[in-house]
Amino acid sequence: MAHLLHIDSSPRDDRSHSRRMTREFVEAWQQTHPHDTVTYRDVGRQPVPHVDEPWIVAAYTPEEQRTPELREALRVSDRLIDELIAADTLVVGVPMYNFSVPSTFKAYIDQIVRTSRTFAIDPEDAEDPYKPLLHGKKMFVITARGASGFGPGERYGHMNHQDPYLRVAFGFIGITNITFVHVENDEHSSESLAASIAAAQAQVAELVAA
Ligand SMILES: Cc1cc2nc3c(=O)[nH]c(=O)nc-3n(C[C@H](O)[C@H](O)[C@H](O)COP(=O)(O)O)c2cc1C
Repeated sequence: MAHLLHIDSSPRDDRSHSRRMTREFVEAWQQTHPHDTVTYRDVGRQPVPHVDEPWIVAAYTPEEQRTPELREALRVSDRLIDELIAADTLVVGVPMYNFSVPSTFKAYIDQIVRTSRTFAIDPEDAEDPYKPLLHGKKMFVITARGASGFGPGERYGHMNHQDPYLRVAFGFIGITNITFVHVENDEHSSESLAASIAAAQAQVAELVAA
C-alpha cells in the first residue's frame, strides 16, 4: 500500500483545468490502486502563509534550542513537510502565472524547502554543501497554461520559468523523478484547448496504467 499526496494550486474552482486533471488522475489512480491512501492539500483556495522573520529565525535555530514561540512559527511548515515525507507519490496541479508558478505555490515551496528537514548543509563539502534529504518519491505535475509553445526550442521556450523551476526546486530536496503533463491554450481557440485536454487525458491514463 502506497500513499499519494494530491496538491492543487489554482485559485479557480470548476473552471480550473489543472484542478480537473489532477482530480481525474487521482480517480484513475484509486481505480488501479484501490488500497493506496490519499491526502489532499489545496494551496490555491486555502493558501499557506508566506515565510516571515520568526519562521526564518526558527528554521535556522537548532531544534533543541527552539522556544515555544519559535516552534509555533514552524507549525505549518512541519505539517506540510510531514505530509510530503509520508507520500510515495505526488500529483500536483500548477497553473502558469506570468511564466512561472502562482505565488500560492511558491509560498508552499518556501514552507517545504527547509534546512535539516528536506535538505542539509554539509560545511565539509566545499564543492556541493547542499544535500537533499528526500529519496525515492515520484512526482507528477499537471500544468495549465493560456498559451502553448513553451517547450525547449519552441517560440516561448525562453520564457518558461515554470517546469524548469519546479525541477530545480523539488530536485534540490531530492524529488528528481518528475513527469509533466501540460494542458495548454486556455486563452486560444476552443478546438486547440480541447485537443490539448484530450492529449493530457490520454497521457494521464497512460501514466496511471504504467
Ligand atoms: C495572473 C495570471 C497570469 C497568467 N500568466 C500566464 C502566462 O504567463 N502564460 C500563459 O500561457 N498563461 C498565463 N495565464 C493563463 C493561465 O495559465 C491559464 O488560464 C490556466 O488554464 C490557469 O490554470 P487553471 O485552469 O488550472 O486555473 C495566466 C493567468 C492568470 C490569471
